[in-house]
Amino acid sequence: MRALEDELFPSTPGKVKIERAGGAMNRQLHRCFASTSTMFLWALFLVAMTASYLSFQSFVDTSSKYFQASWGGLHWERQIRASAAPRRPPGSSPNAGISVLVTGAAGFVGAHCSLALRKRGDGVVGIDNFNAYYDPSLKKARKSLLASHGVYVVDGDINDARLLAKLFDVVPFTHVLHLAAQAGVRYAMENPSSYVHSNVAGLVTLLEACKSADPQPALVWASSSSVYGLNDAVPFSESHRTDRPASLYAATKKAGEEITHSYNHIYGLSVTGLRFFTVYGPWGRPDMAYFSFTRNILQGKPITVYRGKDHVDLARDFTYIDDIVRGCLGSLDTAGRSTGSGGKKRGPAPYRIFNLGNTSPVTVPTLVAILEKHLRVKARKHVVEMPGNGDVPFTHANISLARHHLGYKPTTNLDAGLKKFVKWYLSYYGYTRGSSKNL
Ligand SMILES: NC(=O)c1ccc[n+]([C@@H]2O[C@H](COP(=O)([O-])OP(=O)(O)OC[C@H]3O[C@@H](n4cnc5c(N)ncnc54)[C@H](O)[C@@H]3O)[C@@H](O)[C@H]2O)c1
Ligand SMILES: *[C@@H]1O[C@H](CO)[C@@H](O)[C@H](O)[C@H]1NC(C)=O
Repeated sequence: MRALEDELFPSTPGKVKIERAGGAMNRQLHRCFASTSTMFLWALFLVAMTASYLSFQSFVDTSSKYFQASWGGLHWERQIRASAAPRRPPGSSPNAGISVLVTGAAGFVGAHCSLALRKRGDGVVGIDNFNAYYDPSLKKARKSLLASHGVYVVDGDINDARLLAKLFDVVPFTHVLHLAAQAGVRYAMENPSSYVHSNVAGLVTLLEACKSADPQPALVWASSSSVYGLNDAVPFSESHRTDRPASLYAATKKAGEEITHSYNHIYGLSVTGLRFFTVYGPWGRPDMAYFSFTRNILQGKPITVYRGKDHVDLARDFTYIDDIVRGCLGSLDTAGRSTGSGGKKRGPAPYRIFNLGNTSPVTVPTLVAILEKHLRVKARKHVVEMPGNGDVPFTHANISLARHHLGYKPTTNLDAGLKKFVKWYLSYYGYTRGSSKNL
C-alpha cells in the first residue's frame, strides 16, 4: 500500500500527511484481517483499488509532461474516435468517407474546413494550441461551433510528438489537413521564434508523425502566396521563382514547401501544398486589414491605409473563405495515396503545389469603399507610405493549375464576400443595425 501511494504521488508536498494516514490504515488492516469473511471484502477492495490505479496510471502516461495539455484517458479516446468516424449514408459514395486530422482547427480556415468536411459526412478531429496571437476567445467560439456539429478539437501543440503519436494510434487517419501556423507578416519582427516554432519545428514534428503512421495519411497543407516574394511577373504561376521571400513568414512557408518535398521523396508521403491568396470572410482573423478596418470604422477610429512606392495603391487578390474551403476539400479528394508505411517508402507518391486565389486583385482604397458601403459608415483614412516590413505591393493568382486538377473555380467577388463578412461581424460583436454605438 505504501509503495502504491509513493508511485501515485511521486513528489507531492503533502506526502508526510499521506504516510501518517497510511499508518493508521495499517492498524485497521490488522484488526480486519483477523476475520476471514472481512478478508474477502478486503480482497475486493484491493482489486478495485488496483483497477482505478491502473486507469489513473495510463492517464498519467499519455499526458504530455512538456505541454501540460489535458489529453488522454479512455473517455478522451472515445471522444476522438467518435469525432473521427465518417457518417456518410451507406452506399452514397464509393469513397466511403475520409477521416481527417485538421491542425489549426480553431483557426479561421481550419474551422471552416472542419465544418464543411463534417457536413458532408467525413470524420474530423481538430488540434489547436489556442495561442494568443489574436483574441483566443474567437478561437474558443469557433471550437464551440465545431463541437455543436460533433467535431472535437484537442487543445495541444503540433510540436507535441507524443500527442500526435497517440492520435494516430487511436485513429487511422486517411488525411491530414495541416493549417496550424504562425500567420501574419509584420508580427515576425516582434516574435520571430514563434514562426520557427510552428511553421518549421511544428511542421517537422507533424511530418514525423505522418511518416511513422501506418497507414500513412495523405497531407494537404497551407503554404502562402507570400512565397512569390519579390517576384513581379503577373499573374503568379506555380512555376515562377519563389526563392526571394520578403518576410520571415514567407521564408518559413517556402521552407515548408522544401521540407514537405523531402518527406515526399524519402518516405513516400502524398503532399499537396496550397498557396492561399489573402483569405477573408465570416469568423475571419482580427489581425487582417479588412477585419481591423471594420472594427476601427465602427468605433470611429482612423484607419491606416498603406500606399506603395510612387503613390501606387496596394492590391490583393482577396479570396473568399468558401472558395478556399472548396479548394481544400478538392485537394483532399484528389490527393493520391501515400505509398510508405511504418517509415518505409514503397514507391513514388504525388507532390503537388497549387495557387488558390480569386484572380482579380482589388486595391486597398476599393476595399475600404466596399466596407464603407456595407457598414454605412464613412472611414477616417490615414494614408501612409508602405514601410519595407515584408508586405509585397501586389498579389495576383494564376489558378489554371488548380482549375484543371481540383476543379477549383472561385465564385464570390469581394463585394459579395465582404457583405457576408460585415453581416457576421455585426451579429458576432452584438451590433444592431441603425445604432452602431455599442461595443
Ligand atoms: N488567411 C490568409 O489569408 C492566409 C493566406 C495565406 C496562407 N494562410 C495559411 O493558412 C493557414 C490557416 O490560416 P488562418 O488564416 O486560418 O490562420 P489562424 O491563425 O486563424 O489559424 C491558425 C491556427 O493554428 C493554431 N496554431 C498555431 N500554431 C500552432 C501550434 N504550434 N500547434 C497547434 N496549433 C497552432 C492557432 O492557434 C490558430 O488557431 C495558416 O497556415 C496560414 O499561414 C492563410
Ligand atoms: C497560367 O499558368 C499556366 C500553367 O499552369 C500557364 O500555361 C499559363 O500560361 C499561365 N497564364 C498566364 C496568363 O500567365
